[in-house]
Amino acid sequence: MSIDTAQKKMQEEVEKRRTFAIISHPDAGKTTLTEKLLLFGGAIRLAGTVKGRKASKHATSDWMEIEKQRGISVTSSVMQFDYEGHRVNILDTPGHQDFSEDTYRTLTAADSAVMLIDSAKGVEEQTKKLFQVCRKRGIPIFTFINKLDREGRNPFDLLEELEQVLGIRSYPMNWPIGSGKQFRGVYDRAQTQVELFQGDDHKEIQVQKVSGYQDDLVKEIAGEYYYDQLIQDLELLDVAGDAFDFDKVRGGELTPVFFGSAVNSFGVQTFLENFLKLAPAPTPRRSSEGEIDPSNQKFSGYIFKIQANMNPAHRDRIAFLRICSGKFERGMSVKHVRVGKDIKLAQPQQFLAQDRDIVEEAYPGDIIGLFDPGIFRIGDSLSQGGKVEFDELPTFSPELFSKVTVKNALKHKQFQKGVDQLTEEGTIQVFKTVGFEDMILGVVGQLQFEVFEHRMRAEYGVEVQLQRMNYQFARWLVEDKEKIDPGKFRINSQLVKDKKDNYVVLFESEYAMRSAIEKNPTAKFLETAP
Ligand code: G4P
Repeated sequence: MSIDTAQKKMQEEVEKRRTFAIISHPDAGKTTLTEKLLLFGGAIRLAGTVKGRKASKHATSDWMEIEKQRGISVTSSVMQFDYEGHRVNILDTPGHQDFSEDTYRTLTAADSAVMLIDSAKGVEEQTKKLFQVCRKRGIPIFTFINKLDREGRNPFDLLEELEQVLGIRSYPMNWPIGSGKQFRGVYDRAQTQVELFQGDDHKEIQVQKVSGYQDDLVKEIAGEYYYDQLIQDLELLDVAGDAFDFDKVRGGELTPVFFGSAVNSFGVQTFLENFLKLAPAPTPRRSSEGEIDPSNQKFSGYIFKIQANMNPAHRDRIAFLRICSGKFERGMSVKHVRVGKDIKLAQPQQFLAQDRDIVEEAYPGDIIGLFDPGIFRIGDSLSQGGKVEFDELPTFSPELFSKVTVKNALKHKQFQKGVDQLTEEGTIQVFKTVGFEDMILGVVGQLQFEVFEHRMRAEYGVEVQLQRMNYQFARWLVEDKEKIDPGKFRINSQLVKDKKDNYVVLFESEYAMRSAIEKNPTAKFLETAP
């Protein structure tokens, strides 16, 4: 292939890709929506194929159960399908009890996010946390308000909540006509059409083109009562709502909002089609060599997640790599930049809805799974030619803390080895108390403690004892060395160090944190490592 043809092909492949993650609180309908998207894309044929994580709700201490769940999440970590000329990659963001730093890190591999909200519940806790991570990256966020077939909250209240709680402005792409049992469908503002929710089981979707919302046909469909309400709402949106602004959508300042019902497939296809039009193709990534454009011919990528093998007899792991530029080909040699060695990518895997497949070639925006005999760390960069190193992945502030000790002191060496490796994998964060060097683990999800305990036993032969601590927040302390004094952080707080010897303060409450911030005006308390 000539250079020009290769470049053209590369650009086409990049242009057609959309890589996104769905952010939501458990039960909002993420599994259902994912499944419907895969059905539209023809990636699965039957509903019920995508396994939810229902079981993990009960599997707090039963490792086999956790393992099974982790197994499922290996195969569904990335789901790929084609739709009308696009190649779509959905990144799975574990929720429920397997919510962990992995969930946050996965978001760094996405170019946009779909925020799924239950219309009866509004913005919930987990959504808020995930939203903040997306916000910091400035990626576009698309909102799907789900379960319109049930009694939900007033749509204006929901939009108000997006603005008040999350600080993002919104533009409703469509607007519900009635709700709950009286849900008639939606009015599509851009296409000026009514999409009807009808048929005996509401599975039939009919589209009626109209001249505008004043059209008599809308009145007929909505019925007098709902029509009056609809007109009032739409007029209010036209007058007082934000205008649609593509640049703001791309900048993550304005979220297009879609109303629908995932379980009834209602509004999902319209959502998908609009999303594909408005969401960005793979974007340039920052690196040691400046911004790396996806259409750059040289292959590069970074590892954002490492998953331990389900089978404890094998220590091998799978490292998930996001391709940032160039074409990936099976068997190619690339530089492992941190280690400074060339490695051959021989058995790369791609994750489809149900199976793992060996991947022959892949392009920017795609995620591939690399067999990892223990050579990769979270954030490692691989590149072809040159030493491209992508910006370090952020460390997320842990919220749960446990003091950890080894039961048998003679096993200290294995203990240290296990802790080091699991820290590299990003399974846990480790802190040490100043002076006594006691070890404290920090995580964002309870399951991370259980995984740590189990893997220390199964893979390193070490029994550990975890003792939960009352701390809820960790803040990295930036202050002149001579001013740092552990004595200042004795009440409801504690001064510790992270693995790079940065000072970190753990706080029991927001109040304790605020008062420390007030009492130390020259210090900075950062949410992530400096
Ligand atoms: P999650 O992955 O976000 O946790 O949510 P999931 O898709 O498992 O959906 C949670 C529950 O919400 C499921 O019901 C699902 O059927 C229901 N659901 C999803 N979309 C809609 C919708 O548009 N309308 C209504 N009314 N319900 C919806 P479940 O009873 O917990 O499970 P199941 O027995 O139905 O599978």
